[in-house]
Amino acid sequence: MLNFSYQNPTRIIFGREQIAQLSSLVKPDQKVLLIYGGGSIKKNGVYDQVTQALAGSTFIEFSGVEPNPSFETLMRATDIVRREKIDLILAVGGGSVIDGAKFVAAAALFKGDAWDILAKGAKITEAVALGCVLTLPATGTESNGNSVVTRYETQEKLAFSSPLVYPQFAILDPTVTFSLPPKQAANGVVDAFVHVMEQYLTYPVNAPVQDRFAEGLLLTLIEEGPKVLAEPDDYEVRANVMWAATMALNGLIGQGVPQDWATHMIGHEITALYGLDHAQTLAIVLPSLMQQQRQQKRAKLLQFGQRVWQLQHQDEERLIDETISHTRQFFERMGVPTRLTDYGLKADVVDKLVDKLVQHKMVKLGEHGDITPEVSRTILQHAL
Ligand code: NZQ
Ligand code: ZN
Repeated sequence: MLNFSYQNPTRIIFGREQIAQLSSLVKPDQKVLLIYGGGSIKKNGVYDQVTQALAGSTFIEFSGVEPNPSFETLMRATDIVRREKIDLILAVGGGSVIDGAKFVAAAALFKGDAWDILAKGAKITEAVALGCVLTLPATGTESNGNSVVTRYETQEKLAFSSPLVYPQFAILDPTVTFSLPPKQAANGVVDAFVHVMEQYLTYPVNAPVQDRFAEGLLLTLIEEGPKVLAEPDDYEVRANVMWAATMALNGLIGQGVPQDWATHMIGHEITALYGLDHAQTLAIVLPSLMQQQRQQKRAKLLQFGQRVWQLQHQDEERLIDETISHTRQFFERMGVPTRLTDYGLKADVVDKLVDKLVQHKMVKLGEHGDITPEVSRTILQHAL
């Protein structure tokens, strides 16, 4: 096992009717910016629950954070945080709203051009306090220090990471996910699945705790994921998916093990150039990457196939082939197509995507740093 130092400071408040806890989580002297997306929270009752719980607090609102949140919109929120001297940012929504709120929390106290936080990895030394109410289980952003922001004028989707932007608290009420469109619920399952894979499907370092946690999460998502589509009103299913998605990317399973993240980095370029949903890009890239990296990932591919897909062939090549096809079929079963051409994208996109990877210095991806632009090109060509 590799060395590690791990701390996750986010308090999770999980279960039915827990949004009411906001009244004690927000301190009476804190001035709050309530930040949310395109209005789903007004239709499903979440906005009412939040504003009721905040009745004793001073708060102002900022709405309109887009899916794949835009730098331009977030800078408007940043101005408000500075001008109004906000003490706490309360993000209510999915990954986009929470990621956006993290960027705002950092940008508001940043001296200099806030774009440098994303484009140049400029170090953040302070951030406004942040809390969240999660409405879409997928990204794990509710209890991690990551944020992904898009600048539409230059078609760039870039991430930053800082321990200073972990939410102080995250309220996870599975009932708020009943209103998710099936496509978003399915996207969330696929995203969480791939988060586990990025931390699991590398090479063995004798870390059975991390491996078995990861396999438990994958098995849970495989069992519960299709039920979200078949039985959308089942609380237990929603609760298990929600907790699995949080556990998939709260840092725990990635401690002491190598990590990959090439699928995500290539996927971000697809979203930035062609607007596909985040999870759609992952469903396209991962099966092709597994195929291309089958030698490097051989031991873990076999372990994954045997323990998660319960395949038992003597012939190891066949076992790996079936492991990859089971993974692809799972995404397809969730209603997320796995080929670029399924989304109307043709061979001409490959060069453009590889150019963007080079521009963003994504030239040594993967756990061995051996996914060069040429390897990414092969992965994308095989994903057509
Ligand atoms: O904007 P509203 O009206 O709220 O509607 C949203 C949005 O249209 C809707 N929605 C959310 N909760 C709902 C709901 N509709 C009905 N009922 C509810 N309960 O769903 C749509 C998509 O929301 P979005 O937040 O964009 O989805 P998701 O949670 O999948 O987040 C995706 C973003 O997270 C980033 C992605 O790159 C993408 O920008 N990621 C962040 C990560 C992190 N911070 O650790 C890791 C991930 O790998 C990912 O990159
Ligand atoms: Zn993701």
